[in-house]
Amino acid sequence: MAPLLLAEALVENVAASSRKLIAFQSSRMGSNAEAASPGYYAYRASKAALNKITGSLATELRPRGITVVTLHPGWVRTDMGGANADISVDECVDGQQAFFCTVSLKQTGGFYSYDGRAIAW
Ligand SMILES: NC(=O)c1ccc[n+]([C@@H]2O[C@H](COP(=O)([O-])OP(=O)(O)OC[C@H]3O[C@@H](n4cnc5c(N)ncnc54)[C@H](OP(=O)(O)O)[C@@H]3O)[C@@H](O)[C@H]2O)c1
Repeated sequence: MAPLLLAEALVENVAASSRKLIAFQSSRMGSNAEAASPGYYAYRASKAALNKITGSLATELRPRGITVVTLHPGWVRTDMGGANADISVDECVDGQQAFFCTVSLKQTGGFYSYDGRAIAW
């Protein structure tokens, strides 16, 4: 619920901004289309819930011109991702920032990888 509450708290700021974009940090572990693997049950469920929230919030905020997307950051070498992960924090952030520059209202409600590729729900 924290991302939703944060979005609600800041929505007027977003509406007043030029970019009008809300991007949630999800994970492909919350995708129902991904091959099911065991473990991380609460984590998977929380990210699936966040993805569902993205769709509803996108519908609500579309008339105000606000784009809402949910992201998979890649498998990133952070404390959580560990040293064996695929990409560095810089690669993740560079990819996400490039995506933020191009994503538009046509893509609202979507689920995207850090490099802008669409991810199946
Ligand atoms: N790394 C990956 O491969 C990967 C893959 C998919 C999705 N993600 C998602 O990407 C996001 C960032 O993950 P990460 O890899 O950067 O994780 P991380 O290295 O474990 O860092 C998590 C950050 O969240 C902060 N945090 C945790 N609980 C908090 C709370 N209750 N209130 C405020 N701050 C809190 C931590 O603060 P402190 O440092 O103060 O503890 C830390 O800065 C997460 O949503 C994660 O699910 C990551």
